Amino acid sequence: MALPPVDQLTEDQARAELDRLATEIAGHDALYFTEDAPQISDADYDALKRRALAIEAWFPSLSGTGTPSQTVGAPVSTQFAEVRHGVPMLSLDNAFDEGEVTDFVARIRRFLKLPAAEPVAFVAEPKIDGLSASLRYEHGVLVVGATRGDGRTGEDVTANLRTLKDIPQRLKGTGWPDVVEVRGEVYAPGDAFAAFNAEAEAAGRRTYANPRNFAAGSLRQKDPAITAQRPLRFFAYAWGETSAPFAETQHEAMTRLAAWGFVVNDRSRQVEDVAGLMDVYRGLERDRARLGYDIDGVVYKVDRLDWQARLGFVARSPRWAIAHKFPAEQATTVLEGIDIQVGRTGSHTPVARLHPVTVGGVVVRNATLHNADEIARKDVRIGDTVTLQRAGDVIPQIVGVVDADRPDRGPAYVFPLTCVCPLKTALVKETNASGEESVVRRCTGELACPFQRIEHLKHFVSRRAFDIEGLGEKQIISFVERGWIREPADIFRLARDAEKLDILRTEDGYGETSVANLVAGITARRTISLDRFIYGLGIRDIGEQTSLVLARAFGSWTAFETACVAASTGLPGDDWVALADTPGVSARVLTVLAEAPPRATDPWPDAPIDMKISHAFPGLTSPARRALAALADDWTGLARLASIARNEGPSPALGLIAGLSGVGPVAARALALFFRETHNRAMVDALVTELDRIEDAEKPKSDTPVAGKTVVFTGALERFTRDEAKARAESLGARVSGSVSKKTDYLVAGPGAGSKMADAVKHGVTVLTEDEWLALIGT
Ligand code: IVH
Repeated sequence: MALPPVDQLTEDQARAELDRLATEIAGHDALYFTEDAPQISDADYDALKRRALAIEAWFPSLSGTGTPSQTVGAPVSTQFAEVRHGVPMLSLDNAFDEGEVTDFVARIRRFLKLPAAEPVAFVAEPKIDGLSASLRYEHGVLVVGATRGDGRTGEDVTANLRTLKDIPQRLKGTGWPDVVEVRGEVYAPGDAFAAFNAEAEAAGRRTYANPRNFAAGSLRQKDPAITAQRPLRFFAYAWGETSAPFAETQHEAMTRLAAWGFVVNDRSRQVEDVAGLMDVYRGLERDRARLGYDIDGVVYKVDRLDWQARLGFVARSPRWAIAHKFPAEQATTVLEGIDIQVGRTGSHTPVARLHPVTVGGVVVRNATLHNADEIARKDVRIGDTVTLQRAGDVIPQIVGVVDADRPDRGPAYVFPLTCVCPLKTALVKETNASGEESVVRRCTGELACPFQRIEHLKHFVSRRAFDIEGLGEKQIISFVERGWIREPADIFRLARDAEKLDILRTEDGYGETSVANLVAGITARRTISLDRFIYGLGIRDIGEQTSLVLARAFGSWTAFETACVAASTGLPGDDWVALADTPGVSARVLTVLAEAPPRATDPWPDAPIDMKISHAFPGLTSPARRALAALADDWTGLARLASIARNEGPSPALGLIAGLSGVGPVAARALALFFRETHNRAMVDALVTELDRIEDAEKPKSDTPVAGKTVVFTGALERFTRDEAKARAESLGARVSGSVSKKTDYLVAGPGAGSKMADAVKHGVTVLTEDEWLALIGT
């Protein structure tokens, strides 16, 4: 039996039907959820739910607690029905600068053969960054709402669209055509989106990357009741099929849509020429951050609809409109504050706290300000409107201040002189060996500094280090604040501490399962691989890759620790570091100096300094001789340099670590410095005691055909993935590099190999196909 359309029901009929539906739906929910024995198909369930929601949408007074729109029930089938658009939903051509806008206008004038004196009016509208939807009204009643889909066919999301307060169920006023498809953008306001994400994050539910994804995800919910709870809005800006014309200009059409109950954008303007278009563009670009919703450009449309009709379409976009896009990946927003972030190693990095804004599709709340010098150079002040950009892919940065000339601007930012922790340790500016000050300000409190301690522990439990499940930033902060954990070993102690675990259960409201999971997460890591162990220690300059190299080179924790302890007593003196850091003084120069026979008195008293150098240290290049001459102007000076090179250099143990390919002197020195400190050794010892086992690393093989060779993989590999290829090559003792040089032994090239192939030819590197490589390694 066909049901009467919802809009033809009396309120009493509607109430009765809704009651029936609610009971029926609740029954099916119970069967589906609690008994796992559904009796109807998803599609039938879907239909019941849709009908109920339509009734509730039409009779809002009937809607309340317990009615289907307020109950989050069973998931409905994922598939939405298809809807063929009466008129295709097209896209827009883009313009990126004023020149392209000028061309757009000139093209239109030419096409319409307009005399020079005839002006062309345009409407310039914000380009809303959401997703477009088409709403079909028949006799003023919303019958179908659809997504754009591929432009010809979209998805039927009528029930979901009905839940938007900006979408009228029935058109207001008069004069609407019998059939009209109203089109526009579904979007989520920035604040509402941020609030949703914050709540979802706190509750451990999924969050969305940006308002557009959020809007799309919310609109395509299987259950319209969920869409109803999402803060979606709708701007009308276009139309599709209409049974009769309803306006003569775009501007007039917008006025009509507004009269029928739609929200049209109040920043749209009518203008007469390119200068006018550019004015709107600049104005919107300036105010973009304050609109409350994301826009990614301005759409220019020829105002006269008869001209739009004459201009028509090219391929998939109209000739009469264009989207003038804002430059990619930049945005402006207000700098709300400057926070100082204390890194694991005590570095104090200023971080801009921003009014949330989407940059290149991602909501940005923070951006790096790098260091104190950078803030001073850009003269960034709290309250400024700043331009933001996402450098590369990751950390957003502040490009500059937009409104530095405003009269009520705040004072210049003063960088703190002491650590931002309660201990207020003085910050130091480090100097490098040549005495240059580093721009980084660092707290020297190390593990005494609560911020550094938290960063250390966060690093320790992080995914690439110990990867302890159930122990995130929130827990670490809370455990550190209570004094439960100070160092990594304490984490393992906590897992055995019945008293503390009980507090988690009783006072912190941890369920039995959460406590069990936390304990299991910690216990699982009492066995750890050597490379993760090294990386987890969080030693400065020892990243993941270096940890892996070290683990492979030493094989076992004992061998590694012995080497580091030996290296820790063999650190070079400051004079040696300064000498080694002098331009022109290479490792070879240091060796020549160290190996020259020591002579107390000058054998060539009458010779000039450069002659003395040539005689005393034969075999040096002339840049090296000049470098030494600049450091010493007499025999005593030269003798001192030779003594520094001979006596103050790094110990052989340190040299051994520094000499490992992929490690180098900086990382070796960092290891030596770390192991020199008794408190670090104590921390490591305590941790080792808590662990069951540090697994030995596989030592690189030395008896394979590719052991010790350097290999580069390039092109679209077909026989194995790049990760697989790398892992296999490394397990056979080969080194895998990303670029081809004369040190490369093999280039393994899949189809489409490009510049690396050319480099290989240039350097005479052997090029192998994937099969030849497999044959070589014997697979
Ligand atoms: S007019 C035939 N106006 O931009 C032209 N589109 O790249 C129909 N959009 O799919 C579109 N704001 O999702 C138009 N004021 C506006 C717009 C707008 C955002 C989106 C829309 C469309 C895309 C085209």
